[in-house]
Amino acid sequence: MSQIEIASLTPFEARAEASALREKLTRWDLAYHQADAPEVDDSTYDSARRRLLAIEERFPELARNSPTAKIGAPVADGFGKVRHGVPMLSLDNAFTEDDVREFENRIRRFLALPPDQIIAFVAEPKIDGLSISLRYEHGRFVRAATRGDGAEGEDVTANVRTLIAKGKIPESFEAAPDVIEIRGEIYMTKADFLALNQAQETAGDKVFANPRNAAAGSLRQLDSAITASRPLSLFAYAMGELAGDVGASHSQFLDRLRAWGFPVNDRIRQCLGADELLEHYAAIGAGRANLDYDIDGVVYKVDRFDWQQRLGFVSRSPRWAIAHKFPAEQATTVLEKIEIQVGRTGALTPVAHLRPVNVGGVVVSRATLHNADEIERKGVRVGDTVIVQRAGDVIPQVVGVVADQPRGETDFVFPATCPVCGSHVIQAEGEVARRCSGGLSCGAQVKERLRHFVSRNAFDIEGLGDENIEFLVDGGWIKAPADIFRLEAKNSQGLQRLQNFKGWGEKKVAKLFAAIAARNTIALERFIFALGIRQVGEATAKRLARHYGTFQSWRDSMLAAVPRENDAYHDLISIEDIGPSVAGDILAFFAEDHNLKALDDLAEQITIEDAQVIEAGDSPVSGKSVVFTGELVAMTRAEAKARAESLGAKVVGSVSKKTDYVVAGPGAGSKLTQAESLGLTVLTEQQWLELIGG
Ligand code: IVH
Repeated sequence: MSQIEIASLTPFEARAEASALREKLTRWDLAYHQADAPEVDDSTYDSARRRLLAIEERFPELARNSPTAKIGAPVADGFGKVRHGVPMLSLDNAFTEDDVREFENRIRRFLALPPDQIIAFVAEPKIDGLSISLRYEHGRFVRAATRGDGAEGEDVTANVRTLIAKGKIPESFEAAPDVIEIRGEIYMTKADFLALNQAQETAGDKVFANPRNAAAGSLRQLDSAITASRPLSLFAYAMGELAGDVGASHSQFLDRLRAWGFPVNDRIRQCLGADELLEHYAAIGAGRANLDYDIDGVVYKVDRFDWQQRLGFVSRSPRWAIAHKFPAEQATTVLEKIEIQVGRTGALTPVAHLRPVNVGGVVVSRATLHNADEIERKGVRVGDTVIVQRAGDVIPQVVGVVADQPRGETDFVFPATCPVCGSHVIQAEGEVARRCSGGLSCGAQVKERLRHFVSRNAFDIEGLGDENIEFLVDGGWIKAPADIFRLEAKNSQGLQRLQNFKGWGEKKVAKLFAAIAARNTIALERFIFALGIRQVGEATAKRLARHYGTFQSWRDSMLAAVPRENDAYHDLISIEDIGPSVAGDILAFFAEDHNLKALDDLAEQITIEDAQVIEAGDSPVSGKSVVFTGELVAMTRAEAKARAESLGAKVVGSVSKKTDYVVAGPGAGSKLTQAESLGLTVLTEQQWLELIGG
């Protein structure tokens, strides 16, 4: 199938097709490798696989757990798991000069540095490959792992040994720390990629969509002989666990890496301040096309390790580093149609259907128009010539209209009823999104919610891909999450049996039931996230779980908070990052009778595990709730908060009788008075520092 069709897939269609292809390929793989009984000829297999690869390239979030990563997987079980000594994190992105200056300012504020203090950074090309962690003990290579979910990766030691054998990575080195995890990027040069694809094509083997996919596909081979035959390279640029000394700064660490024989990129520079960072960014950007490897931006890192340490992390990325991405690629084309899609929360998203156009190497035929206001603000009409852009993995967007081209005649009229279920479209005050009011009576919303419910970071039920959800909902098998856990019983009691439908069969049904059964015990935070409440992402779900501990306590507290302006409500908004807006969405969920029924119905079908107390460690403030008020002297508020949280304390914004410590500096006002009247423990900053050990 052609590129154009892939480019025109909506994320929704892509997900459905990828899951269908994946199921097919997995079945064919098993038949071929384990049963030695190929179900299809090679060219059918290859074209399905190529199509899946192309879809995954355009929608990288679909690439997880895909058989494309395990070409010809001969072993059923895959790689062993490795827990990283220190998690492998991702980076925040910067897109504009202002973002970069703000990055520098944020650091200055966080560390309370004077305005004339120069901050030294290291700027490095952001290599477009896959990250790897190489563990050395006493200077000898012991293990290699992919990033995986950041905490746990796949054991690719045998495969990395093939790079060691070729002299691309040292086996051992002198003057080494006792333990060091060296992190870097495995990549394939453009030249190696072209040569590999040519050889693959000649041999009638699968070709790769780009160097990154080729590198990933080559490293994640269960048969290391295949990895050995592939031209992979490494750039080392960071470290994980360390027992020993590697210098006082990132630059010194990079010098060590070079001295130990690791390949370190030659366009890495130390830059003093944002201006120099931006200069180097421009220089790298200008030379980008001439590099023999793909890069997608420049990474900036604070050079001093002591500062890195103090800056720490926000959820999954360090405060001391950022990835400055190269600008989005743009093109102009004609807007042919505007279609409305209905999402999980009923939000109606206008999608532009475009005359297919090549945007930086990818053919784009659909793009998002975000919402009704955006269409109006941009003055976009069907028939206009528009500018579209895509950057990295994000969905292409319509940026605006090309004014001097022939214009469409009529303004787009946003529908007053839902295109899927016909319910009224409503717009809450102060909100941009218009929503279908049909709730769970809207087929699109039901399916999207179930999709979210079974997704990887929620219930993670394998075998409930988009296509199957579509089938099960349309056929009346499931409507609400709880029905998933009743499916097996329903199937054995009803007149119709799932096994008898086309495309199902005994094995597939048994596998699905096993996958469902495997998930009927779930952590509270996943459970909360799975509900798909607006604005409640993974981080918020985790905070709620840690705050309330048990499902029952969370449920009862939310119901108690619904009338607002009471203790339960104040307790809810005292949780970090939960303000009136997020609280409003949570309580709106609980205020709906049908949601509560669905929630209780679900809770009856499964076991919800209590949340773990925050960082149970031996920190004296672990699990305690702390309020900072007034001025702090030794560190900024942000640093104090981050430090307290890293010790397992909960930093909350307002004082209540549940507050364990109030740390009051000069100028503390009403919070201090309140703390005193409640008889809480009030500490000076110094006493607090003594409590947490300096
Ligand atoms: S530093 C804690 N440096 O980009 C920070 N990452 O978006 C660790 N990457 O997962 C990453 N080039 O795979 C760093 N010079 C570079 C990089 C780089 C590419 C990748 C890496 C990381 C991703 C984050």
